[in-house]
Amino acid sequence: MKLLSLSRAARLVGQSRGALQKQIQDGGLTSFEGKIDLDELSRLYPKIELEDNSMLEKVEEIIERARFKARNRPSATPDRETLAARVSLLSDELAQARLEISNHNILMEKLRSKLNGMAQENGANALPLVEQLQTWLKQQLVQPHSVTEEQRRLLARDMVLRVMAAQVHLNPSGHEFLVEGNNTLLESGLSAGFALNYGCSNGNCGKCKARLLSGEVKKVRQHDYVLTEAEKAQQTILMCSHTALTDLVLETSEAGDSTDIPQQSIPGWVKKQQPVSETITVLNVRTPRTQRLRFLAGQRVNLTNEYGHRMELPVASCPCDELNLQFHINLNEQNDFIDDLVRGLKTGSGIMIDGPGGEFILQEEPPHPLLFLAMDTGFAPVKSLIEHALTLDVAEAVHLYRFYSEEGIPYLDNLCRSWQDAFDHFTYHAFPCAPPQQNKLISMFFTKLAADHPDLSQYQAYIAGPASFVEAAATFCRAQSLSDELIHTECV
Ligand code: FES
Repeated sequence: MKLLSLSRAARLVGQSRGALQKQIQDGGLTSFEGKIDLDELSRLYPKIELEDNSMLEKVEEIIERARFKARNRPSATPDRETLAARVSLLSDELAQARLEISNHNILMEKLRSKLNGMAQENGANALPLVEQLQTWLKQQLVQPHSVTEEQRRLLARDMVLRVMAAQVHLNPSGHEFLVEGNNTLLESGLSAGFALNYGCSNGNCGKCKARLLSGEVKKVRQHDYVLTEAEKAQQTILMCSHTALTDLVLETSEAGDSTDIPQQSIPGWVKKQQPVSETITVLNVRTPRTQRLRFLAGQRVNLTNEYGHRMELPVASCPCDELNLQFHINLNEQNDFIDDLVRGLKTGSGIMIDGPGGEFILQEEPPHPLLFLAMDTGFAPVKSLIEHALTLDVAEAVHLYRFYSEEGIPYLDNLCRSWQDAFDHFTYHAFPCAPPQQNKLISMFFTKLAADHPDLSQYQAYIAGPASFVEAAATFCRAQSLSDELIHTECV
């Protein structure tokens, strides 16, 4: 039995991990300690054309679009040393498999001569039985029906993927991610959406320590942080300074909730200010490469500009791109910070970032379908949560409903439509709710929504927007059988 991790299996057949998890939950696919049998996979996805790269490329493309990675990410092609190590590992496996086949053939020969010997020793009485056994044995050896052509191709594709990307399994969380090119373990884990412990990203602080339980790593950056002899003896490594040569099992801690994230003060700067509608501007803030903001998707921070004006805002970007933070600001609000924005903050001007805070965060387990209801700039924390959910790739379905009071279309409408185009399990609807009929329109759209989702009891709902909208949306969710602990709200 050939077992594959969920990540590898999903990548091989061009499905999301969430889709495979749903198959496991529904009993369509069996998993063995979190791993999937190749036979079952090829039975479930017999139509995957493995010689055709388009499926794999489609998956790569949507992953690339969804990961929202930091700019300047190194090339995804492993270097020569990494390729050589992985090919060498596969060569060892091949040599081992050949040895086993050779032993198997020797055993078969011995069995045949044993049967011949038995036929001679036991005379005519034993002959029919021995001949029957020999014929059966011959048939079994000529028709190795246990491996189909599809499975053989699936295995071959898995070999190629193993050369191009190593897989990391984290203990005790059980999270898995792939390491491409010479990316560090830390970069890869963060890009995959996991809240790994780290500080400087630069080999100075030692906060990204992990114990290497199996596999081989390669140092890609010299680090100033000095590991003790005891740590070295325990195979401790710094994730920000190493990449994976082979598949790895690491023991490390991850943030489970907001209490695991430290309070930080980070000197950032304005990267860009971009109006996205008549009233809303997107402020992009950059953090230093060696001092990135650790936060959970959906959390808030305080921004203080160089005039000392301060504003608390939800981060609208994914924690997987912790260098580039995005904020959505309604310019109609009364605030000195906003007045400075309207006058135009210069690119490069300093912004102090303090935080993070807030409990409007993604509940990872179990993988419920996700319902997002956002009004106006309530879309900011919801965007962060959706990007994180799409990066984690575990939700079986993600539905976004936006209510907006602007004229025309909601801001960043194209972004939401691009998610819908890229992800089969993502749906998007936008409802115009401009005053003066706003409350009436909102309640009318909830009635429409109730027809789409008469029973929300299996969902997790995330609601963000003005307080009156949040209250109405939470009431709607309860009326559709969603329990309070699965309703998460944020007033913006
Ligand atoms: S994050 Fe500071 S040493 Fe790795």
